Amino acid sequence: MSEAVSRRTAIRLLGAAGAVLGATGCVPQVPPRAGARTAARASAAGATARPGAGARVDALLERLTLEEKTALLHGAVDPSPLGQAGYVPGVPRLGIPPLRLADGPAGVRVARPATALPAPVMLASAFDPALARAYGRVIGREGRALGQDVLLSPMANLIRTPYAGRNFETYSEDPRLTADLVAEVVRGIQDEGLIATVKHFALNNQEKGRDTIDAVATEQTLHETELRGFEAAVAAGAGSVMGAYNKVNGTYACENKPLLNELLRGRWGFDGWVMSDWQATHSTVAAVTAGLDMEMPAGTHFGEPLREAVRAGSVPEHAVDLAVRRVLSTMDRFGLLEASPAPRPSRDPAAGAEVARRVAVAGAVLLRNEKGALPLTGAAARSLAVIGPTGQVPFVSGGGSAHVVPDRDRAVSPLAAIRTRAGKGAEVRQALGEDLYGRPLPAGLLTPAAALDDQVVDAGKEHHYEGAFTLREADEWTLLVHYSGKRPDVRLDGEEVFPVQQGVAEYFAGGLLGAAPDGLTVRRRTLALAPGTHRLTVGAHGGDRGARFRLRHTTRASRAADVAEAVRVAAAAHSVVLFAYEDATEGADRTGLGLPGGQARLIEAVAAANPRTTVVLNTSSSTAMPWLARTAAVLQMYYPGQEGARATADVLFGDADPGGRLTQTFPADERATPVGADPVRYPGVGGRQEYGEGVHVGHRWYDAERVAPLFPFGHGLSYTTWQYEKLTVRPRGTGLRVEFTVRNTGRRAGTDVAQVYLGPSPDLTLDQPVRALAGYRRIDLAPGRSQRVAVDLDARTLSSWDPGPHAWVVGTGRREVWVGRSSRELPLRAAAVVRAAGR
Ligand code: BGC
Repeated sequence: MSEAVSRRTAIRLLGAAGAVLGATGCVPQVPPRAGARTAARASAAGATARPGAGARVDALLERLTLEEKTALLHGAVDPSPLGQAGYVPGVPRLGIPPLRLADGPAGVRVARPATALPAPVMLASAFDPALARAYGRVIGREGRALGQDVLLSPMANLIRTPYAGRNFETYSEDPRLTADLVAEVVRGIQDEGLIATVKHFALNNQEKGRDTIDAVATEQTLHETELRGFEAAVAAGAGSVMGAYNKVNGTYACENKPLLNELLRGRWGFDGWVMSDWQATHSTVAAVTAGLDMEMPAGTHFGEPLREAVRAGSVPEHAVDLAVRRVLSTMDRFGLLEASPAPRPSRDPAAGAEVARRVAVAGAVLLRNEKGALPLTGAAARSLAVIGPTGQVPFVSGGGSAHVVPDRDRAVSPLAAIRTRAGKGAEVRQALGEDLYGRPLPAGLLTPAAALDDQVVDAGKEHHYEGAFTLREADEWTLLVHYSGKRPDVRLDGEEVFPVQQGVAEYFAGGLLGAAPDGLTVRRRTLALAPGTHRLTVGAHGGDRGARFRLRHTTRASRAADVAEAVRVAAAAHSVVLFAYEDATEGADRTGLGLPGGQARLIEAVAAANPRTTVVLNTSSSTAMPWLARTAAVLQMYYPGQEGARATADVLFGDADPGGRLTQTFPADERATPVGADPVRYPGVGGRQEYGEGVHVGHRWYDAERVAPLFPFGHGLSYTTWQYEKLTVRPRGTGLRVEFTVRNTGRRAGTDVAQVYLGPSPDLTLDQPVRALAGYRRIDLAPGRSQRVAVDLDARTLSSWDPGPHAWVVGTGRREVWVGRSSRELPLRAAAVVRAAGR
């Protein structure tokens, strides 16, 4: 169909068309929404205006001095910190309370324990918006209980490349799924009266160069991919948006007028406030003018420089007033300006644990299961070997600002959970296979002899050691230091082993590798040591509060011994469960998709000794699996939170059907991904990267390019078998109704995720996905039962973003629809004609 016709059918789903990104510069008046007190149990999005809300804010604005106003627009040091990421002092004289802002996406990150939920990517794998709401509510309640007002979550950025260090903190490569789930998490958080912050707006899809990279994407690409989650969060009523570190189309996200004032406010009608990511503000005048309201975590640009700019006339005071109004109106909407605010609830750790376990089971993705290796029953359940360091140290959450410390003793190890579930009659052996935290240095090795394990250095005291050790032959040593307080200065032959350049990694530490089971920070470095005598010096300072440290190591021989022991233990058991890990964190991208360290070799060796080996993956994103064919089963458990070990046992023993499906494609070849081997797409060249894949993000790219993945988007096995039949597709209102029957043809109750994909419109000249995810339904069925499922595709689902009119246009004409169990297992296919509205 011609462009003229497609324009005629343009639907203005979100207001008037405009300039860049499709918006005019005008900021519409959006009615304020009701506060948390009244909205606490209702959807914030649907709440109505609080009487007198505007007047209260007007009255405050009249009384605030310029100094007080700007103090509301940037972070400061918390006089009574609770361990949260940010603090904005209030104005006590006028009854404006301070704001405390805490991370994060998988639970509340403060100095006290909180429920450590499974990583968002695992929540997403359940394809269950209602579960996302429950997940948000756990965090919302805990955030309030732990003294917080704002939660720095959810992260709506898409999974664009498997290398990105924060893929576990986000949801999916698919825009539709991300949008649905992010919206429900926002609702859940805000149901409990905590202000949600959708982050990082926008195109913060990688860690490499994140502070400066210029992410370049077309208007159509932006609207149809990355922006969908943000738009949905705003429509769900998110109180706050966090601007990203990077640039978007040439301008830093935190001073990007097309993004902030034009799109977010002008087109989407966002009426909350925009804060910067931490140290992501780059200017005063440009940032305020573009629509940034709050600089975090300090006032480098929005403190004195902003007051100066107002006095000098380069920022009109009404621009400051507007930013303050957005902050105060949102606070008022959540009841924070009430003379006697709603009392904070107490934590409910039991309810949190219940949701954490439910999500970890629902998001468990069974990638492979040969000859019914799982569930473990009969002999397989009575004689087991649990192998791998993460079999013994539970991998709870990823590193960086999403790391959450659960209640003491809450997170049991998989070994303990498996022993409990296997019961008394079973024999459960165990082996590490890899030593993550090292062995003490043998005292006899050092001259003079010294025990450098578990040293306590009192406050104000120093510990110094200088000695030598001799190696008869060349060896590869991994040296590890575990410490609290200031990192000890460890030198080998005069060279610092753990240099200060690791400062960035240190700030973001906290994942599996970054902390020992007892909480001490861990640094490790592998060195090729020549034969001969080496000089070791260790200097530790107790600082003001005292410190602890231990120096540890592994050698080539100790590593080989660990593998040999694992092989021996594996061979003696009927079946093996091998836990493998990959430790991702904010601040760094992955350098490859393989499992780190010697894990691939360990899996090969163990599976060779015992073919009934199940690999459980505690990994952040897709993984290369050169060892796949040797295994009996592979269970993807991501970072499963504090209840992860129990949930893993639930699935391994078949107490629950693995309910998760992949929300990202696992590539067969690292070079054949949407960002592929093209450095312009990833990580960028000369500080700039292009989103050259356009609308073909994730699985859409694999379909467009006909590339076979290792595991496709939507894949995940069940313990029962499923049949799909009787597909019909009919016009319904301005959209389509898709109906089909799902039948559990096996002998066990099970869970499946039915997926509906939509083909392109023949009438649009715009680039369109070969197949886009258009809907899905999570279904639980008893054996032998069937269910008729109806999925409605609304006008937006049938639309593409047209950069001509800057609007969504319905893709009319014959549209094909596929239904099945993954993007590559689509047994049903039908088509229907979509007509333009009013015809
Ligand atoms: C992260 C944000 C986080 C903030 C506060 C930043 O480094 O990018 O996601 O909310 O720190 O901890």
